[in-house]
Amino acid sequence: MNIVVLAAGMGKRMRSDLPKVLHRLAGRSLLAHVVDTSRTLAPGRIVVIHGHGGERVRAALDAPDLAWAKQEPQLGTGHAVMQALPFLDDAVPTLILYGDVPLTRADTLRRLVDAAGADRFGLLTVDLAEPDGYGRIVRGDTPPGDRPSEDGRGPVLRIVEHKDASSAERAIREVNTGIMVVPTPLLRRWLAALSNDNAQREYYLTDIVAMAVAEGVPVAAVQPAAEWETLGVNSPAQLAQLERIHQRTLADTLLEAGVSLADPARIDVRGSLVAGRDCHIDVNCVFEGTVVLGDRVRIGANCVLRDTTVGDGTEILPMCHVDSAAVGADARIGPFARLRPGTRLADDTHVGNFVEIKNTSLGAHSKANHLAYVGDAVVGERVNIGAGTITCNYDGANKHVTVIEDDAFIGSDTQLVAPVTVGRGATLGAGTTLTRDAPAGQLTVSRARQTSLPDWKRPVKTPKIPKE
Ligand code: UD1
Ligand code: CA
Repeated sequence: MNIVVLAAGMGKRMRSDLPKVLHRLAGRSLLAHVVDTSRTLAPGRIVVIHGHGGERVRAALDAPDLAWAKQEPQLGTGHAVMQALPFLDDAVPTLILYGDVPLTRADTLRRLVDAAGADRFGLLTVDLAEPDGYGRIVRGDTPPGDRPSEDGRGPVLRIVEHKDASSAERAIREVNTGIMVVPTPLLRRWLAALSNDNAQREYYLTDIVAMAVAEGVPVAAVQPAAEWETLGVNSPAQLAQLERIHQRTLADTLLEAGVSLADPARIDVRGSLVAGRDCHIDVNCVFEGTVVLGDRVRIGANCVLRDTTVGDGTEILPMCHVDSAAVGADARIGPFARLRPGTRLADDTHVGNFVEIKNTSLGAHSKANHLAYVGDAVVGERVNIGAGTITCNYDGANKHVTVIEDDAFIGSDTQLVAPVTVGRGATLGAGTTLTRDAPAGQLTVSRARQTSLPDWKRPVKTPKIPKE
């Protein structure tokens, strides 16, 4: 099939400088959701109709499998589809999607495409309690002798837009979602015959339904499994509402997979989260990009994890920010730890309160439990990094590496001025500023020797003599 995605609308009600279809849902633009769903249907061609200022849209999503057509000015949905015609293959039907309707499931679209086959018209419709604003599906009576449809509804005759509808038509609750599939040669002919003789002076795509009926082309109406699949975004409030619906669906999928969530209403997944057996996630956690949790992982409240893998049995305590890190098994992170890109923590490592780690590997059983910055470092196994330790990795121009070999002990409040190496089993005394390598197995201390002055007297304040 061909797929046409309509994305030229202005989105005025978003009250934003960002084109509407670039607003994000679950961390990705609305249009990216639609394009991704389109790709799962393996179409021959995907054409995106973009509008005024749409260069930003194109720049944000451009890919070799997408064709772009500009619609300027915007004279309605029928006019928008006309812009795609040069790209369409007549041998296959054309599926029309909206760039601001992000959550339609591929299953639903496949059912629609199957119902239409090669030579019928397929229309995705939904029954709404409040159909105001939508085009209404006008149906007729089942002709005598014909088999009535499964749901008892008569055949579709036409679509009437809300603004053009009579009060009797406005009472109809079955509405046009806008999503349809049409045999391509017929689409070409019908679009050419559209007029803009209506309340909005627009070329309505919806008018081609009556043309199909007039030519005896059967119109198959298919309904989605859930109403939210057809909801569009016109305002920040609708976007927020769809985000919640989507997050709840993702949370339910995690629960079904056996993940325990303290509150399925308080988790946000902006990408993909894969979790092993017996994982527990406390409230208000955000997962971005690709996050993979092993078995028995526990994530405390208020953690943000992005593009990260976490090994079996590891516990991440509350308030941690973990970005592009690989954490081994049985580790304990946080509370209040920050793991930045390039952090690789081996099994049974501990990273504690107010510790920041960047582009560093920490060997098995090593610990940095309190108040430290470890950047651009290679840390061996069984190393203890004391409170207040800082790797001075940046000299103002270049970054340098700190190497800490196995079994080293770094005393509290130590600065390691890179490039520098702490040998195997070395001990650094508290307060050391290390500027040269520390030999293996020895104690290295750089602080001044402690002295006490027995005869020293604390100065006393000279008393003021009051003026007479
Ligand atoms: C349209 C349908 C209506 C349906 C409703 C579902 C028509 C005439 N009406 O109404 O039956 O119930 O969608 O939401 O089709 N767009 C363009 N270029 C244009 C106009 C629109 O690309 O010139 C795009 C928009 O970006 C949007 C989509 O088409 O993605 C729908 O446009 P919108 O203005 O929301 O359509 P409605 O008038 O609400
Ligand atoms: Ca709309």
